[in-house]
Amino acid sequence: MNDLIKSLKDALSVAKTAQDLDNIKSKYLGKKSEIKAKFDEMKNAAAAARQKLGAELNAVREQMESLLDNAKAQLARHVIEEKLANDAFDMTLPGAGQPTGALHPVTEVEQRCINAMRRLGFSVVTGPEIELPEYNFDLLDIPEHHPARDMQDTFWIKDTVSPPPAGGPAAPGGAPGGGKKCEAFLLRTHTTSVQSRFMMSLKGDESKLPIRIVVPGRVYRNEAVDATHLAIFHQFEGLMVGPGIKLSELKGTIEFILRAIFGDEVKIRFKPKYYPYTEPSIGADINLGDGWLTIVGAGMVSPTVLKNFGFNPERVSGLAFGFGTSRLAGMFSGANMRELYGMDMRVFKNIKA
Ligand code: DAH
Repeated sequence: MNDLIKSLKDALSVAKTAQDLDNIKSKYLGKKSEIKAKFDEMKNAAAAARQKLGAELNAVREQMESLLDNAKAQLARHVIEEKLANDAFDMTLPGAGQPTGALHPVTEVEQRCINAMRRLGFSVVTGPEIELPEYNFDLLDIPEHHPARDMQDTFWIKDTVSPPPAGGPAAPGGAPGGGKKCEAFLLRTHTTSVQSRFMMSLKGDESKLPIRIVVPGRVYRNEAVDATHLAIFHQFEGLMVGPGIKLSELKGTIEFILRAIFGDEVKIRFKPKYYPYTEPSIGADINLGDGWLTIVGAGMVSPTVLKNFGFNPERVSGLAFGFGTSRLAGMFSGANMRELYGMDMRVFKNIKA
């Protein structure tokens, strides 16, 4: 019996793989093993000897089983140790680094504008993208025959559900929130519609003045899409209404925001313009060294518009301006309009801070 144990120990001492262990197990404990034969022979032994022999054989078998179990556990440990030794990596090496996300160039520009205007006491207001023609056009004194109302420029929607009433919260994503029933509404063509909504929500209450709001947001134009024109783009609107607001403040405000966006070296010039809702109306051009570019539309809120919202133009005046943030984002990121709203991730990483 001791020979058997010794021989098993020898076999185990040279076993290298799980397969070796399996082979050893079947040789020493399997159906054709010596111990199995001894158990079989036991039946022929005299009854008196059988019990003793049985106990002996059982003890040997148990010892062999436990030797095998140990060898198995040792092999498993060895495999892990070997793997650890081979796969060892230097934890002090710098990491591979993950690419970080970046803000969309339009968001980046919007945030710069918002941060600048907050310093002047303006707060951010948003409004629905699906809009009533009253807020987008009529109350802003944009008459029926104005080109902006042309079917070419506006996406009209025929339905009977209207956006939320002025002053009411905009539904998420600018979806209609269910105000009065209406014949038709539209996708806002400019963020100036939110000026209307905001002024309307004050109901002519002069004690709530001054208004100082900015409105970043998406606008829609029914236009043929090319490298510089899109049917969807972003604008940024500013409105200040209160007693004694002057054109010089409008110019100062525009200069302030343009310098915040482009830096102090930007050249700025103003020129006369026409917008139905401002009087006088002005445009602002910038020059960054390669020619003049018209960026901003602006003006003093017209007396008619102020009256439309219940304000007395004798006591109250206002300044307003609007510009395309998509256009600025294009300038900063080097992307054209179509790329700016496409899916090429390189565009989003390119913005120059
Ligand atoms: N709504 C004009 C546009 O879409 C921009 C604009 C011009 C906004 C004059 C204003 C303004 O608030 O006073 O081109």
